[in-house]
Amino acid sequence: MTGKAELKLDGKTLTLPTVVGSENEVGIDVTNLRKETGAITLDPGYGNTGSCESAITFIDGEKGILRYRGYDIAELAEKSNFIETAYLLIYGELPDHVQLEEFSSLLTENQMLHEGMRFHFESFPPTAHPMAILSAMINAASSYHPNIIHKREERFPYHAARLMSQVRTIAAFSHRKAQGLPVIYPKSSLKYTANFLHMMFSHPGEDYELKPELIRALDLIFLLHADHEQNCSTSTVRMVASSRANLFASASAGVCALWGPLHGGANQAVLEMLEQIHDEGDDGSKFLAAVKDKTTDRRLMGFGHRVYKNFDPRALIIKEQCDKVLSQLHKSDPLLDIAKKLEQIALKDDYFVSRKLYPNVDFYSGIIMRAIGIPLDMFTVMFAIGRMPGWIANYKEVMEDPNSRISRPRQIYTGSTLRNYTPMEARG
Ligand code: CMC
Repeated sequence: MTGKAELKLDGKTLTLPTVVGSENEVGIDVTNLRKETGAITLDPGYGNTGSCESAITFIDGEKGILRYRGYDIAELAEKSNFIETAYLLIYGELPDHVQLEEFSSLLTENQMLHEGMRFHFESFPPTAHPMAILSAMINAASSYHPNIIHKREERFPYHAARLMSQVRTIAAFSHRKAQGLPVIYPKSSLKYTANFLHMMFSHPGEDYELKPELIRALDLIFLLHADHEQNCSTSTVRMVASSRANLFASASAGVCALWGPLHGGANQAVLEMLEQIHDEGDDGSKFLAAVKDKTTDRRLMGFGHRVYKNFDPRALIIKEQCDKVLSQLHKSDPLLDIAKKLEQIALKDDYFVSRKLYPNVDFYSGIIMRAIGIPLDMFTVMFAIGRMPGWIANYKEVMEDPNSRISRPRQIYTGSTLRNYTPMEARG
């Protein structure tokens, strides 16, 4: 499509150019709307607003398509791994041998936290949620590397590797701190995901037994979460980056946005919901009735998506992986049975069908993480580790865009019009 849009406002017609993406998505360019008409667009929740042009990730929610840099998510899930996919997202192409080697070496060289950061961990109360620690510690890490602020462009590959590597170390340390356990330092001989499991679960003098099937399952979870175009946290990262804040500050803001239960926090909320249903002896039907009752604000967590209106391709892969992991471990989980039952009922129920609500990535991921032994309050941290390459790629795109402007939406003001100050004595 190469057409133009026409807008009629108060008898005046404004012609608006259209922008067509490489997958033929059409955007109406309203850049000059306010200048020419004095009006703005209003789109609460941004369901119809494209905030940027981006070459990183493509989603077709109607068809259930997700591609990173043009590669289908199912093919990457089968043939790639988290680190290779992270390189692809950040640098745009699959790495050759040398590039992958260099990227891995940079990750290993940057895996240690500055020893001074140990004291920051000490200052958190034992009740601190690991997402609060993660966000604070990512921001704190920038203060140990001042050139993140001053040489953010020329040193980008180092900063990116440092962030990706250290987020994993911070996450593991926050778990150890919450459990009152001594921290376990990373081992250079281990690959990214194995090294994370080692830091989480080894004990001084006794290494955790690294099972290949669990390493692969967690690596897959990271890969499936690695990017998802302009979701809430990625938009936050881009928003902060647009003010020219540094990479660590931008990513730290992304962690905060991810934490909420409607976004990354849904994986924790799903497990809590399944546990509650299990504890109440419900087979899921009572819970679903409550969800459909509009006088409550209950939601079937792990269901629904702003963009996917047919199926979430990540959910299909994760469900299959969930069955595989449990059978490899010779484990069964009553929560998996409840999840399957809920899905079965919901997919036939008019409430969910008419609203196009399907299981999303979070519906089954928690059951895998539980089987690995990751505590519930660390689930969203796993999402953050996985999403880091996507945030870094989006940050890079903002930084390299010569036309990038500070993000600064407008509003329609609905408050009081001008009124005079009332002295205290005269207030009722
Ligand atoms: N359970 C029950 N009803 C729902 C659900 C749900 N999970 N999701 C949406 N609805 C209903 C909602 O009540 C509304 O109904 P009505 O039209 O009668 O008022 C309708 O569906 C549209 O919902 P919405 O809130 O306008 O949709 P949205 O696009 O703003 O929200 C969502 C998308 C993902 C926040 C929402 O579906 C939700 O809250 N899901 C549960 C939380 C969840 O699983 N989040 C993880 C998303 S995937 C991982 C990620 O990318 O973060």
